[in-house]
Amino acid sequence: MSLHTYREDGDGLPLVLLHGFPLDHRMWDAVAEELPAGRPVHAVDLPGTPGNASGLPDPALEASADLVAQVLRAAGVERAVVAGLSMGGYVALALVERHPELVAGLALVDTKSTADAPEARANRLRIADEAEATGTVDPVRPMASSLLGETTTAARPELANEVAAWIDQQEPAGIAWSQRAMAARPDRSEVLRAFRGPVTVVVGDEDTVTPVEAAEHLVATADGARLVVVPQAGHLSAVEQPAAVAAALADLAAASDPA
Ligand code: MLT
Repeated sequence: MSLHTYREDGDGLPLVLLHGFPLDHRMWDAVAEELPAGRPVHAVDLPGTPGNASGLPDPALEASADLVAQVLRAAGVERAVVAGLSMGGYVALALVERHPELVAGLALVDTKSTADAPEARANRLRIADEAEATGTVDPVRPMASSLLGETTTAARPELANEVAAWIDQQEPAGIAWSQRAMAARPDRSEVLRAFRGPVTVVVGDEDTVTPVEAAEHLVATADGARLVVVPQAGHLSAVEQPAAVAAALADLAAASDPA
């Protein structure tokens, strides 16, 4: 579990970025480039990422959230604007539940607040077992194509190759841990409903994993949430259209700063 700091300067509340699965902090690099100065920007490499895939507790996103809180506090971050993409969004909601004092504002990017349906859960457990049994990331390689939108897939093969390389560099034990942790997560819609800070929901208009309807459910759940639909982006909107996602995060962060 480690913190990657993109920027340390600025008076605004820190912005903390939580990545999706099966990826790591590098999926936020392009967004970090586009963010305006004025606040520290950190990304967390969640449990299961390369270098963070051994000595882990039992698989649970609650453990991920506790480790995020620990790593932030160790870096002197007591309150932050938290943005999570997909699995990062599940962890962000667990953080709101378990460490509410840390979260001033919340961005939920290409994610959902609900738990898995039984078939999806069973599929995750199968993938976890297969990753362990084969000692490879083969079971998640096919995800590369579903993560990106059709526009990116058709027009930007170099980006598709980069995402595939990130997946190839993951560790089988980490893949298994994360899948089991996600399979065990509860519905956190009520956690979102009770959250009192500003919320922005971001979704790629070509996201087929957590589609626009999932984002609309989040917006209907979180009182006063803002919805940003990103054109020509799939599930990895932050990778595909970083400028649009950075703009949404910058607006949220400004709205979260103390007056
Ligand atoms: C992700 O992008 O983090 C995954 O699609 C999350 C999931 O498998 O639910």
